[in-house]
Amino acid sequence: MAHVFVTRRYPGDALDLIPAGGHTMDVWEEERPVDRATLLERARDADALLCTLTDAVDGALLDACPRIRTVANYGVGYDNVDVAAAAARGVAVGNTPDVLTDATADLAFALLLAAARRLPEGMRVVTDGRWGAFEPGGHLGRDLAGATLGIVGAGRIGDAVARRAAGFDMEVLKTTSRAGTPLPELLERSDFVSLHVPLTSSTRHLIDADALARMKPTAILVNTARGPVVDTDALIAALHAGEIGGAALDVTDPEPLPPDHPLLAAPNVLVLPHLGSATMRARTQMTELAVANVLAGLAGRPLPHAVPLPAPAPPTAGRP
Ligand code: 8YV
Repeated sequence: MAHVFVTRRYPGDALDLIPAGGHTMDVWEEERPVDRATLLERARDADALLCTLTDAVDGALLDACPRIRTVANYGVGYDNVDVAAAAARGVAVGNTPDVLTDATADLAFALLLAAARRLPEGMRVVTDGRWGAFEPGGHLGRDLAGATLGIVGAGRIGDAVARRAAGFDMEVLKTTSRAGTPLPELLERSDFVSLHVPLTSSTRHLIDADALARMKPTAILVNTARGPVVDTDALIAALHAGEIGGAALDVTDPEPLPPDHPLLAAPNVLVLPHLGSATMRARTQMTELAVANVLAGLAGRPLPHAVPLPAPAPPTAGRP
C-alpha cells in the first residue's frame, strides 16, 4: 500500500481510483493552492504527488519528501516541476497532454475574436448605459478572413489553433525553435500572433521589447501559453506607445494579476484568469490522465503520459 498526496480536489471521479487501488490518499480540499510549508508537511510520507502549476516541485521538496517516486502534474505544462532535479533523484514526472488541446485552442480563438471585434468594449457600452443610436462608424473591428495569424510554437495546441484559423479563411504562419517562418519575419507579417510555446529558459521573455517592436502597430498578441513568455513591462510600454494594436491574454506574469496592476490600465488589453483548459470534459480527463500516471508509478510501471527527463549528470570525478 502506498500513500498519495493530492494538492487539489481535481474534477471528476478519477481520484477515487487511488483508494480503490488500495492506496491511502490525502487531498488538500481548500479552494486556494496549498502553501509551501503545508505541502512539505503533507507530502513528507507520500510515494506519489498529484500536483498542479501552483505547486513548485523542486529539489528541496523532493529531498524533504524522499519517498516520492512519481510526480503527476495536472496540466500539459510542467514548468512548475524541476525535471532535472526529478531525473537526478530517479523520480518520474507525468503531465496531461492532448485532452486539453481543443479546449485551449478554442479559448485562444475566443480571445482572438474578442479582441478583433472589440467585445469587452461593446459589453461595457451596454452595461454602462451608453448604447445610443446605431453608429455606422462606431466600434469597427478587424476582419479575420484574409488576415495573417502567426503561431509561435506549432505543437499540439498551436496546430489546433491553425486548424481553426483555416476555417476562418486566415493565412497561417508558424514558427518553432527549429523550423517554419523565422520568428522576426512572422512577427513582422502577422496581424495576429498567438503563443503556444512551453515556458523554458529559452522561451522566457521570448516576446520582449524587440519582438514587440517588430509587430505591426495594428497587430493583436494572444497568449494562452505561460505569462512569462512575454515581458510584461515591455508589453505595457508597447501598448501605451501604440507599437501593437492590442493584447488578449489568458496567462500573465504575475498570476494572479492584481486588479491594480498597470497591465490592466494599458489600452486594448483583455485579460482572463487562466481559463485555457477550463471545460468540464478537459478538466475531468486531465484528472483521469494524472491518476493513470500516479497508479502506473505506484505499480512500478512507466508513466503512460511521461514528460521527457534529461539524462542525470554523470557523477563528478572525485565525488562519492
Ligand atoms: C491548466 C495549463 O488548467 O495544462 C496547462 O498547462 O496551463 C492549464 O490548461 C493548468 O495547468 C492547471 O493545472
